[in-house]
Order: sequence, then structure tokens, then C-alpha cells
Amino acid sequence: MRIAVLAGDGIGPEVTAEALRVLDALALPQVELVHADVGGVAYHRHGHPLPAATLAAARDSDAVLFGAVGDPTCDALERHLRPEQAILGLRSELGLFANLRPAKVFAGLEHTSALKPEIAGAIDLLIVRELNGDVYFGEKGTRKLADGRRQGWDMMSYAEDEVERIAHVAFRAAQGRQGRLCSVDKANVLETSQLWRDVVIEVAAQYPDVALSHMYVDNAAMQLVRQPGQFDVIVTGNLFGDILSDQASMCVGSIGLLASASLGARTTAHGTFGLYEPIHGSAPDIAGKGLANPMATILSLAMLLRHSLGLEDHARRVERAVAAALADCILGGDLGGTHGTRAIGDAVLERLS
Ligand code: NAI
Ligand code: MG
Repeated sequence: MRIAVLAGDGIGPEVTAEALRVLDALALPQVELVHADVGGVAYHRHGHPLPAATLAAARDSDAVLFGAVGDPTCDALERHLRPEQAILGLRSELGLFANLRPAKVFAGLEHTSALKPEIAGAIDLLIVRELNGDVYFGEKGTRKLADGRRQGWDMMSYAEDEVERIAHVAFRAAQGRQGRLCSVDKANVLETSQLWRDVVIEVAAQYPDVALSHMYVDNAAMQLVRQPGQFDVIVTGNLFGDILSDQASMCVGSIGLLASASLGARTTAHGTFGLYEPIHGSAPDIAGKGLANPMATILSLAMLLRHSLGLEDHARRVERAVAAALADCILGGDLGGTHGTRAIGDAVLERLS
């Protein structure tokens, strides 16, 4: 089993180092690491944020552990050379169409949410967002109309196989959780959404053990704040998922705790090929100071162990260690605490056994 480690720039290398210490402590003899440059560090060394060798290292692995990119010294570069293009390039080049973002409030951290503690405490949901289609990838353009007015357009479309494959990911995820799947669309107005809903209902026939419901996206936005505890798994398209997953993550509270997985169709010997990363960026304001919370990256590693390496027991061990550290008030600055990157890594390591 090979993991490509793309630590990136900013706090990326700091948080990735702690996740690798956790991986090391698990002592998995079958796991081999390959490090490659990405983002600002790759631009400075090789002239491109996603060098061909980095993409090849990712492709030749069972999973990618990604830190963060966003080196501000690259801000003046042309768009295609900016560090952020690396993550977009990896997602499209590797066909990573399913973005999984769990949002859960850890015991004792209810007060970090923007919601009332009793409402936040009930959050334990997973958003499955389609990542390779929708209005982001449709035909787009701007033009001048005959009367001189400017017009812009982005075409929203989904083909049934694109909906089918993300629906399967979501149904399987629901099977592994509480068995409830809510498909979010705008089928009362959009043809794309009507097809989405029809296909999800067809796929549901293969998952009789999952309770499927449907919700319009505007209502879903409201329900995520009103009563987020009602959701188990949410599946939705690229645009709605982009917005709802950011909303859900802030219902939890801290950016330093939120992990993600981006999965494709390719299978590995023990699961699905995927890229795993914290949802935060390179945090240039705290980079190099040892202040970044590495828990989101450590939790991303847990997702990697689960989805790409088939090591569910090890994934749970890591998640339990993180939860135990949080319950013991090992908190980074993002959570109002004083623990630094290394101290948080130490605390998780101590609680691994
Ligand atoms: P950011 O997520 O890097 O930082 C936002 C705020 O949260 C900052 O105050 C930062 O200090 C704090 N923060 C982030 N992660 C933290 C952690 N682990 N522990 C403690 N505090 C943490 O977002 P921002 O500032 O908008 O973007 C910075 C750069 O990162 C930009 O260049 C942006 O394009 C890039 N970016 C990259 C992403 C990626 O690599 N996938 C995702 C989001 C942004
Ligand atoms: Mg977003």
C-alpha cells in the first residue's frame, strides 16, 4: 500500500508531519510513503504548482494525503501557476468525483459552534458532494447581446451515469452509518434536479436497507441551521454541495477539526483510491509558528485508512484518540486553547493505544 504525501506550503507541512507521526505509531509494515512537492513549494522548486512528477506520484499510489496550498508569495502569478490550481488539477486529473465531508461535534465542544450548544450537540452528519460535474464544468461564457447588454451563462447539466455513481457512494456511506440518506436538489424548478431525483430513486432499489428522503436545497439550508441533528447522510450536486458543506462545517465550529475525502471510481486492493485533506487552507497568518491545529489532518488520515486502505479498526483508533484528546481539553488556538501543533500531536499519540 502506497500513500503519496503532498504536504504543500504554509501550515501544510506542519499539520501533515503530525498526521505522519500518528501513521508511524500505527506501525503498519505494509504501508510505504512517497513524498512529492505541491503548491507554492513546487512552484518555487520546479516552476509549476502541480509538476508532472507529483501527479504521477499521486496516480501511482493507493491514496494521497494532502496538507494545504496557498503560498501568498505566489499571489501575483498568473492563475494557472497559483498554488490553488494544484488541488483543482489533482481533483480533475484523478477523477475524484465524490467529496465526503463529515461534520460532527465532539463531546465537550458544543460551545464552539455558531449554533446553540443543544442544537450543535446533535450534529453528526456526512455530506457527499458531487465534485466533477454540474454548473462548474458546463459550457460557459459571456457575450454582448444585440442591444449592447452583456450576458453571462454557465450551463448546469448532469448525465445519469454521473448521478448514479455519486448516488452509489452516498447509499453505501449511509449503510455504514445510521441508514438514512437525504438527497438535496431543486426538482421543483430545475430539469437537472428532476433527473437527479429520478436517478437517485432508481439507484435506491439496490439499497432497501437505506431510508431515502428528498429535500429542496433552500429548505436544506434552513434545516441545517434549525435542526441539523435530523441528518445522517446528505447527497447533492457540486454547486449545492459546495455551499451546504461550508455551511455544515461552520455549524460544527472549528476549521482545525474538519477532514475531507475526495474519492474516484478507481479501486485499490482494499478500497477506493482517494485524496484526503483538511478543509482549511495554508493559513499564512500562523504558518511556521507551530500554532496550527493538526487534528483535521489527523482525522483526514483516519478517513484514508478507512476508505483507501480498508483499515477500519485503525481508522477508529485514530478517531478515538482525537476525541479523547479533545475531551481532555487539548485545544488549539482555533478552539480558544493554548496547545501548539506538536503538543496536540503528542496528545493524540499518547491516547492511541
Ligand atoms: P485558511 O483556511 O488558510 O485560514 C482561515 C483562518 O483559519 C486563518 O485565520 C487561519 O489561521 C485559521 N486556520 C486555518 N487552519 C487552521 C488550523 N489548522 N489551526 C488553526 N487555525 C487555522 O483560509 P484563507 O486564509 O482564506 O486562505 C489562505 C490560503 O489557503 C489562500 O491562498 C487560499 O487560497 C488557500 N486555501 C487552500 C485550500 C486547500 O489547500 N485545499 C483550501 C482553502 C484555502
Ligand atoms: Mg467552498
